[in-house]
Amino acid sequence: STGYDLVVVANRLPVDFAVDDDGNVDWKRSPGGLVTALEPVMREADGAWVGWSGAPDLAHEPFEADGMLLVPVTLSADEIERYYEGFSNDTLWPLYHDVIAPPTYHRQWWDAYRRVNQRFAEAAAAQAARGAVVWVHDYQLQLVPRMLRELRPDLRIGFFDHIPFPPVELFQQLPWRKNIVEGLLGADLIGFQRGGDASNFVRAVRRLTDHPTRGSVVSMGSDDPNPGRRVRAAAFPISIDTQHFDELARKPEIQARAKEIRADLGDPEVVMLGVDRLDYTKGIRHRIKAYGELLQDGRIEAASTTLIQVASPSRENVGAYQELREHVEVLVGRVNGEYGELGHSAIHYLHHSYPPDEMAALYLAADVMLVTSLRDGMNLVAKEYIAARSDLGGVLVLSEFTGAADQLAPGPILVNPHDIDGMKNKIVEAAQMGAKEKRRRMRNLRRKVMGDDVAKWSESFLGVLKAVPARDSYV
Ligand code: G6P
Repeated sequence: STGYDLVVVANRLPVDFAVDDDGNVDWKRSPGGLVTALEPVMREADGAWVGWSGAPDLAHEPFEADGMLLVPVTLSADEIERYYEGFSNDTLWPLYHDVIAPPTYHRQWWDAYRRVNQRFAEAAAAQAARGAVVWVHDYQLQLVPRMLRELRPDLRIGFFDHIPFPPVELFQQLPWRKNIVEGLLGADLIGFQRGGDASNFVRAVRRLTDHPTRGSVVSMGSDDPNPGRRVRAAAFPISIDTQHFDELARKPEIQARAKEIRADLGDPEVVMLGVDRLDYTKGIRHRIKAYGELLQDGRIEAASTTLIQVASPSRENVGAYQELREHVEVLVGRVNGEYGELGHSAIHYLHHSYPPDEMAALYLAADVMLVTSLRDGMNLVAKEYIAARSDLGGVLVLSEFTGAADQLAPGPILVNPHDIDGMKNKIVEAAQMGAKEKRRRMRNLRRKVMGDDVAKWSESFLGVLKAVPARDSYV
């Protein structure tokens, strides 16, 4: 049959691309663990990837790149505003992250979300071979599984939620909560980061629908395109390309760069590091508050300790992100004004993103890695830091509210970022930790992370999905 046996559907393509006046496509690979993970799988399976280019009104035919077919979905400027910035990132994102910021509910945003999800479903349906596996990703596309099943009941459909799934007590605020649950139930397999996310979802199914459930298996009724079908919800914690980071950090030129970074900082005794998208879920303000108070209390000295905060630009048209940026930059300015010296700042704040080489050097240069999210689906920065530290140096301070904490405890120093005093004590403990204890903890962490890379993650998800029997008899 024609078409692809594996189709990935995600809001973004693995490349950002632009078209010049002659119609030539110029593309740049987008960073991210998902792309690295799925690429070898896709090449082997001869896969297609359906996603948005990242630019408004860019229409283009599917094209081959990096051994796969890239299938661009066009979004207008208005749809970017309502579907992407609005419903995805100003409604769902804050709601799914424990309403750290207040979610906004707009009916026009919901209409655009439905319309755009339908467009993604149709693009996927047009590429999938008979009986193919289609893997849909993340909160921007939760209606796609059901829409796709209506179009193509022969397919095996998987969905993976990269962010938390909230408790039903929060989820039920959403005026369209039942549509979202039914949208997801179009899949055969729904993957989550943590067991707790999967059980939150199953509780939502019980509260909001009449579908019978047994454990984490939901039975669909006779009105389903595949009557009597079963849907399974389960945890598949995501990872990174651990070997790649390990190898990068062993390169002499990267190690030299790490030494150079420390020298540029004036060779402080302790370098602390934060690396985040500039997002209110990451607890950047709590971290800087704790750090500033430690300087004020004299428990750490700006002369011997430095904090590097990489905050990569993100979703800059969304109000809550603009406000966060203002707050963080005022806070950083205040701490630097108070505790910096000529030629020496207390905090080095970098509103940029960096390629993996530079990230590996930063991880090697950091004695203490601070991950203090208020809520985080997994947090891959924590795993990158561990993968980069084959020297067994470095301490990971990790928020309890990350998916990574579920997997990695007891190796990291766990913190509750809302408890500023508690977090201050843990930061001091990390800064003063002896080399032997650091090695013991890092060895444990590497034992958990190194064998559990992202290729295993995709193999285990697709393994379960491909075990769903083919449905030729239904068609
Ligand atoms: C999170 C989401 C992804 C998203 C990424 C970057 O990791 O789970 O779906 O792609 O943030 O955000 P952006 O809005 O720039 O795609």
